[in-house]
Amino acid sequence: MRVVTVLGARPQFIKAAPLSKTLRLKHTEKLVHTGQHYDHGMSDVFFEQMGIPAPDYMLGIGSKGHGAQTGEMLAGVEEILLAEKPDWVLVYGDTNSTLAGALAAAKLHIPVAHVEAGLRSFNKLMPEEINRVLTDHVSSLLFCPTDQAVSNLAQEGITKGVVRTGDVMADAFLFHTGRLAETRPPLGLEPGSYLLATIHRAENTDNPSRLQGIFKAFAEITGRIVLPLHPRTRKVLENSGAIVPANVQIIEPVGYLEMVMLEKGASIILTDSGGVQKEAYFSQVPCVTLRDETEWVETLNTGWNVLAGANPEKIVQAVERFQQAPLPGYVPDLYGSGQASEEIVSAMDRYGL
Ligand code: UD1
Ligand code: UDP
Repeated sequence: MRVVTVLGARPQFIKAAPLSKTLRLKHTEKLVHTGQHYDHGMSDVFFEQMGIPAPDYMLGIGSKGHGAQTGEMLAGVEEILLAEKPDWVLVYGDTNSTLAGALAAAKLHIPVAHVEAGLRSFNKLMPEEINRVLTDHVSSLLFCPTDQAVSNLAQEGITKGVVRTGDVMADAFLFHTGRLAETRPPLGLEPGSYLLATIHRAENTDNPSRLQGIFKAFAEITGRIVLPLHPRTRKVLENSGAIVPANVQIIEPVGYLEMVMLEKGASIILTDSGGVQKEAYFSQVPCVTLRDETEWVETLNTGWNVLAGANPEKIVQAVERFQQAPLPGYVPDLYGSGQASEEIVSAMDRYGL
């Protein structure tokens, strides 16, 4: 099989790391990097640390409004697909790079394989929800990380080509956890001595009252909060002149190994990231999700994750409950045991036979 993979944002590099390696054992892959994320700490560091093959094409589109960014990616990917004529186009997750790759392929009648299909927040105000719904509806193979994802697709009438594979983020986490001995903890942090936070979701950064609510809560939390700051949030903070509470320590975005180390050593994680919610679960660290809904609902059912939105009282209460109560004892295998990449490649092998 000849596969063109389209990616461009931080979580996609992490998801591609295990799958590219497995795919290339038997098949040919060309990587297209749209340039959606371009800072060293948002892109190159993952290629370097995780052994992701260098992109064959760099579109260099960069930061733009949704229309210009997605449109320029669509045109750029189309040109490459016309030249490469692949058997498959592979896309990950729910970013503008995902939608552009899927749409370019579908219009050229090239089958689309979507990794992390079927996830839903049921909140159409999120750009990600629009990207993932549209991508799923033009995909021929839909790789679902969870049972919930399979049932979400069935609700929309999609059952053909749906494969429950487990989560490639579990593959990446399990593999790279074995390499932490070669990693130094950022700031020399001792495990258990801090809480870890990430904030980047548009609904939080672009709404001053939500961002203020989150920082108000952080100020009331007992403990040091380490915040590797997404560039989107850094820009908002700089432009708004917001005061960051004294117990919050902002650092630059970190590489994957440093992030996993930070996650495993945190007493509690506060995040609006999709990937970080799951990594908290993999690390058996309680998570307070700074959103009103989550696509990863099964983490809520186990008691390891709590939705607190941007409401200061709810956030503080959730943290205090985790600080005072024993950790949930129940850690079912929700995302697979590191075989999602193999499952995906074998489903692609079987397709149409
Ligand atoms: C994107 C995805 C989001 C995903 C996130 C992962 C969309 C619509 N959103 O959000 O689903 O969770 O990536 O991190 O695709 N910037 C830099 N340097 C960079 C990249 C971004 O400074 O290397 C700044 C720019 O000011 C840019 C802003 O961050 O305008 C937002 O970047 P963008 O890629 O548009 O969206 P994200 O918030 O990163
Ligand atoms: N991540 C990282 N360094 C950081 C912050 C996050 O390596 O400073 C990793 C994190 O471990 C997870 C992924 O980035 O694997 C999540 O990406 P992000 O939060 O940007 O996007 P989302 O998952 O919400 O789409």
